[in-house]
Amino acid sequence: MTSTASRPATGARTPLPLDVEAIRADFPILSRTVRDGKRLVYLDSGATSQKPRQVLDAERWFYENVNAAPHRGAHQLAEEATGAYEEARAKVGAFIGAPENEVVFTRNTTEAINLVAYALSNAATAKEPEFRTHAVGQGDEIVVTEMEHHANLIPWQQLCERTGATLRWLGLTDDGRLDLSDLATVVNERTRLVAVTQQSNILGTINPIEQIVARAREVGALVLVDGAQSVPHQPIDVAALGADFLVFSGHKMLGPTGVGVLWGRYEVLDALPPFLTGGSMIEVVRMEGSTFMPPPQRFEAGVPMTAQVVGLGAAVEYLTALGMDKVEEHERALTGYALGKLAEIPGVTVIGPPDTVARGGAVSFTVEGVHPHDVGQVLDDLGIAVRVGHHCAWPVVRRYGVPATTRATFYVHTGYDDVDALADGIRAAQKFFGTV
Ligand code: ALA
Repeated sequence: MTSTASRPATGARTPLPLDVEAIRADFPILSRTVRDGKRLVYLDSGATSQKPRQVLDAERWFYENVNAAPHRGAHQLAEEATGAYEEARAKVGAFIGAPENEVVFTRNTTEAINLVAYALSNAATAKEPEFRTHAVGQGDEIVVTEMEHHANLIPWQQLCERTGATLRWLGLTDDGRLDLSDLATVVNERTRLVAVTQQSNILGTINPIEQIVARAREVGALVLVDGAQSVPHQPIDVAALGADFLVFSGHKMLGPTGVGVLWGRYEVLDALPPFLTGGSMIEVVRMEGSTFMPPPQRFEAGVPMTAQVVGLGAAVEYLTALGMDKVEEHERALTGYALGKLAEIPGVTVIGPPDTVARGGAVSFTVEGVHPHDVGQVLDDLGIAVRVGHHCAWPVVRRYGVPATTRATFYVHTGYDDVDALADGIRAAQKFFGTV
């Protein structure tokens, strides 16, 4: 937690690498108004991003021209649907530097994490010996951090309850970083898996994944990286990341809702039993029992969310055309500007790192004397959409002794004018509630 007094002024308007006006023209929703004709200032991309026309068009194209169930049926539409689905898998793989057979489509980040957690407990009772490699049971430990959003916490708590394993966690420092001082003891020979967010959805902190992976490798533990808030905002190469799993959601990266991704190192995926079972994931089915396809099909039971996958393919194309290095730089410039603007407002305290070092564009703050929900309501009246509350990461707000925060998150269409609107809105809330 950083008080306004100790924060360096970072509010410079450096030239933004992305053409905000041109990008805004691609997002139909940004041309609507809210709350009696006010311009929509959308600062809630961390919860869900808006969608450019290219993504909406791709989904419409699929339904209007191709719609059929992929990987079933021999008719032309079924063939084309399979082609479109697999083409999107290749695009998503290329986006994170992964081969296609390591990309599993799920409903979202939450489902991808549950898939891994259930596969690890299913491994304990699998009748096939090759599926027991990563079985988790009594005496084993799973490590998370106090920074996780609920999607990367509850599935591990539940895995421990199902298996008798123990959940351990790394704590946080006062300035919003992971406390790695006890990394060597928390991650130890009993650790089977470390699950860690790459970028905090509240604090904006970007975590030193290499250091955690290095320790996990020393003790033979798997590493799952939650990329829900990083994959949309920075270039990612799974080979460089060094982890075993990476999970992310389509809807936070300009894609549709209802589609997410589990990337897994092939040999690890191949050693896991399925989570959901049914059609599409089987090899041979008899009344006495069935055998399963290799990854990724083993983990994609049922008719998949094909139009959404196609939409996600368009989203990664859109982001790739912008350049993920530019997206990252754009958000860093906005974050630095925002931290500086907020530092100028007495009574505002940012929860999280005070500058843009190893920090992404999620800016959470409290306003002295005004409850975050009231801040959110005043901002909403001005047409500014932010998120308020515990941001599905209750332990984080508890750690910093606040009931909730107000959070602004940035993306490719965010400009300095949006940050100015936020700062003016906070001052308006202070005035409304008589704290200045
Ligand atoms: N995890 C999402 C957020 O941070 C829902 O808003």
